[in-house]
Amino acid sequence: MKKVTILDLVAAKNDSATLTMTTAYDATMARIVDDAGVDCILVGDSLGMVVGGQDNTLEVTVEHVAYHCRAVRRGAPRPFLIADLPFMSYQTSVEEAVRNAGRLVQEGRAEAVKLEGGIAVVDQVAAIVAAGIPVCGHLGLTPQSVNAFGGFKVQGRSSTAARQILDDAQALVQAGVFMIVLEGMPRELAAQVTAEISVPTIGIGAGVNCDGQVLVCTDLLGMNPDFSPRFVRQFVDGYGLLRGAMAEYVAAVKDRSFPATEESFSTPGLSVRSETTSEHRVEEG
Ligand code: KIV
Repeated sequence: MKKVTILDLVAAKNDSATLTMTTAYDATMARIVDDAGVDCILVGDSLGMVVGGQDNTLEVTVEHVAYHCRAVRRGAPRPFLIADLPFMSYQTSVEEAVRNAGRLVQEGRAEAVKLEGGIAVVDQVAAIVAAGIPVCGHLGLTPQSVNAFGGFKVQGRSSTAARQILDDAQALVQAGVFMIVLEGMPRELAAQVTAEISVPTIGIGAGVNCDGQVLVCTDLLGMNPDFSPRFVRQFVDGYGLLRGAMAEYVAAVKDRSFPATEESFSTPGLSVRSETTSEHRVEEG
């Protein structure tokens, strides 16, 4: 399969091709994602929740994202690779934003960065784009604002809030984003944003009328039995499958059916005792 570039993603808007994106955080998962034909990998700050077991994304740092992004790149050379700018890595100043975006490209080997917010971050977007780094926007239920929202709640439900999201999307496009993630919003609003802007939209909990879809890899693989929100489809019972395999491993070790003879090494005639004894004699002598 051919390497995916920003040109393919941007062209998808005019071609009406539906884009696929998922998260990944390590080389093993990234290889599966690449092999399955996914267009775009996001090393999201969901990293903190999925890998770190945290309650939200706020503890994630640039160092964390860069480390995981580099691992993902090793496992998946083909998909377009986007790294999340984590909380407080771009909100404080335009300079910080450009420096941290640059780190994710240099240290993480990302091809683009994603940041959350609309009109409030257009200066950062424009400066990062001017530095030659493509930027993906993120509107709606932006997880870095979880405390301001009072929880992970669907956004844009009133006409004023919906209007604000549309204005934010247009401002982001003006500032130079090449794509926008629309998360946790009514599908009618996501459809309208998608129809009115010139760059592709990628939905998560935003209905089918976006230019593409993204899901967290462990959600779509059914790895977390305690997390099954409305917008997630579990394409496999990954938790049940892997738990079953682990339980079989435990049983096989305990009943000594693992490792079998063909799963171990043999040197016929090897006498450990006599060699050890002679080494001993030399040392003692
Ligand atoms: O961090 C993340 O995984 C994300 C996606 C949910 C879009 O931002």
